[in-house]
Amino acid sequence: MSKEAVTLDTIVSLAKRRGFVFPGSEIYGGLSGTFDYGPLGVALKKNIENLWWKMFVDTRDDMYGVDAAILMNPKVWEASGHVSGFSDPLVECSNCKKRFRADHLEDADTCPSCGKKGTFGETRQFNMMFATKAGATEDEAATVYLRPETAGGMFVNFKNVVDSAHPKLPFGLAQIGKAFRNEIAPREFIFRVRELEQMEVEYFVRPGEWEVAFEEWRTLMHEFAKALGLPTEALHELEVEDKDRAHYSKRTIDFEFDYPFGRKELWGLAYRTDFDLTAHQTHSGTKLEYLDESTGEKIIPHVIEPSLGVGRTLLAVLASAYREDELGGEKRTLLALDPKIAPIKAMVSPLLKNKPELVAKAKEVRKELQKIHPAIAWDDNGNIGKRYRRQDEIGTPFCVTIDFDTLGENPDLLDTVTLRHRDSGEQERLSIDDLVARLRSVI
Ligand code: GAP
Repeated sequence: MSKEAVTLDTIVSLAKRRGFVFPGSEIYGGLSGTFDYGPLGVALKKNIENLWWKMFVDTRDDMYGVDAAILMNPKVWEASGHVSGFSDPLVECSNCKKRFRADHLEDADTCPSCGKKGTFGETRQFNMMFATKAGATEDEAATVYLRPETAGGMFVNFKNVVDSAHPKLPFGLAQIGKAFRNEIAPREFIFRVRELEQMEVEYFVRPGEWEVAFEEWRTLMHEFAKALGLPTEALHELEVEDKDRAHYSKRTIDFEFDYPFGRKELWGLAYRTDFDLTAHQTHSGTKLEYLDESTGEKIIPHVIEPSLGVGRTLLAVLASAYREDELGGEKRTLLALDPKIAPIKAMVSPLLKNKPELVAKAKEVRKELQKIHPAIAWDDNGNIGKRYRRQDEIGTPFCVTIDFDTLGENPDLLDTVTLRHRDSGEQERLSIDDLVARLRSVI
């Protein structure tokens, strides 16, 4: 199936049918802009996050992880400029009372819901922060916000990490976590949601060194896209113009992706200057300087920020991996996921489920493979062809079948199995030892 033919509906339907992603609170009619991840979605999401953490944090000597609270002192968001400025332009139709993001309207004069012309009033700025109350009694309760970006949790912990881990510049903080935005019009499945997850880095550099760091993170983001299996031709960089950049950024590149519904922002890379540390120093009254031992000077480091949405990444991965083809004269659906992020790494099957010797041997093989990775499925239901198809649709790269030859019916084939490859449907015979070695190198 050509990529153009993959629709968002196809992805949404597969995601629901096979337990990747469900609409939030579905039995109550849903809640706009929220989604729940099912068993396979959780596994895929974790694999994406783990790969990010490995590439952006664990394999580097200059990165430090944090996991900050979602609720923060509201002064954090006053300092960062979010209380006053984290807003989108909103218009309301005077006829049907529906509200829209002014900058997303195809025709600025026509309501996309009721079709009336000239019914929009003044455009006003709508703040996207979710506010709630913290405290047991009404009068003591303070308004706090659910964080709109994970970044805030890293800026307020800059001093804590400097004082406890003594990192040398340049160094960065990394965090994966939830953020909340009261989007005016959540849309396109998990693309634009109100409760989202971000994988973010705040990388602190000497002011004169920001351009080098910017290029390094830019390269790493492309490497991450490659490791996820996103096609290079579907990824595009957009240099964001001055007027469209966030208030804190002096340079931003949006990484855009060709989703089934068009080219849209996948990730962002921003040069946040010393905007945040300076603002938090001013508002908190706590010095957020760094003593540069090489010069003896106290400086406020500048920041490069690669910011990646988990949901948008997962949607790009699903859309890129989705295929429909024909195998053995039958139509099939498959997800050509990279084995490193596939939720299930392999499926093990006894040829027949009513032959105890086959079942026992298959269980033994599965146990052996689970020493490499626990996500090894078991399926002994229906005929082998159907079992393969079920795994193809969820992106399992390998299926292993144990038959009578494995048990030595043909002595030359004792302790060998059939390994079936998802994308080509090809099968090969190899020893259990070779199977273990092969899978160890790719899953
Ligand atoms: N800390 C910088 C920051 O939050 P952003 O461009 O507003 O910058 C960064 O968001 C990334 O978070 C986006 O590139 C996207 O991947 C993801 N993201 C932002 N808003 C989102 C939403 N409403 N739904 C899903 N993902 C979103």
